[in-house]
Amino acid sequence: MSFDDLIDRRGTHSSKWDKMETYYGVSPDDGLAMWTADSDYATAPCVIEAIRKAADHSVFGYSWDHPDYLSAVQWWMQTRHNWAIEQDWILTSQGLGNAIALSLDVWSDEGDGVVIFSPVYHEFAHKVAKTGRTLTECPLQREGDTYVLDLDDAQSRLTGKEKLLLWCSPQNPSGRIWTPDELRQVADFATRNDLILVSDEIHHDLIFPGNIFVPMDIAAPEARDRTVTLTASSKTFNIAGQRTGNMIIPDDTLRAAMKHRLNTLDYGAGSLAINMITAAYSPAGAEWVDAQIAHLDGNRQIFDQAINAIPGLKSMPLQATYLAWVDFSGTGMSHEEIATRIRDGAKIAVSQGPGFGAGGEMFQRFNLATQRSRVIEACERMQHAFSDLQ
Ligand SMILES: Cc1ncc(COP(=O)(O)O)c(C=O)c1O
Repeated sequence: MSFDDLIDRRGTHSSKWDKMETYYGVSPDDGLAMWTADSDYATAPCVIEAIRKAADHSVFGYSWDHPDYLSAVQWWMQTRHNWAIEQDWILTSQGLGNAIALSLDVWSDEGDGVVIFSPVYHEFAHKVAKTGRTLTECPLQREGDTYVLDLDDAQSRLTGKEKLLLWCSPQNPSGRIWTPDELRQVADFATRNDLILVSDEIHHDLIFPGNIFVPMDIAAPEARDRTVTLTASSKTFNIAGQRTGNMIIPDDTLRAAMKHRLNTLDYGAGSLAINMITAAYSPAGAEWVDAQIAHLDGNRQIFDQAINAIPGLKSMPLQATYLAWVDFSGTGMSHEEIATRIRDGAKIAVSQGPGFGAGGEMFQRFNLATQRSRVIEACERMQHAFSDLQ
């Protein structure tokens, strides 16, 4: 199947399509779902093949994150990210939302502070609130077309209660790839302030040509004794519904603490998901991911060109992943008016900028992991909804 073959996901219990009306007031009958971060195209053939094999076998008894899985993860990190990891550093979680919550649970207590750099993936702040921690929100600074860090400003915001830093790399929602130097600065900041550094690298595989992603552990090995890296195949292979992820923890003490918590809670990934990922992290999977990146690269170019042609709108140039972050501040409109136009005029369900924290107020996030025809349709609808500006 190609990335452009239309698949109707409506009526399949897809959150993105079957919940868009509930959350965003956009009917799936004639609306476009461009909010939650999964893709509208089929996963890799090697993954489908693994599911077929399991179905043919027809026994779904107990299993575990077996050596074939661990060696596939290890192979992937080495070949795709030049990152040499040990198999016993890998612990599995039920997705990265779960890994974030577990990290807060293991390395902080109620009332402790958690540092985030916003705007950022909304669940960071939500998990902090839900677990009774307090948020120390440090705004990223806007510089030209992108975001930069202001660690002096961040330092001045610390209360002394912070225990953990939730870091997003590549960054959701801006698609920014941090340089090794920036990553070292963040690791130094964590070290200076004695913070556990949880680096969420879920978007690490979808890197656009001309950009290089560097894992935190490679950029700042000196901070290994406080770094926990979260990775997953879910965005890369569009298998988020399987709810799996990895917590890669080189430090023995940190890893033992997380392992104990996982054992206590009796966590373990399902066997089908583990076998799907084992198949995904392979040469055939890598080839499919490269083709997907080329598809997304085309989507983002078409989208940026059309959106940037609408006066007052500016799509941040993506270096990674498929989440276009569009700044509407040049329109002079209120957030409410922008949201209404997108919902009722364009009939597109998008992720609302304010949900990403400080700095997100005038933005909307569009998910481009879909068929090209849908991206073109979305652009036309946006041009129409904002036609009075042109
Ligand atoms: C940065 C980031 N972390 C975590 C998640 C959630 O991951 P999961 O579906 O594995 O819980 C997302 C999903 O969009 C994300 O963008």
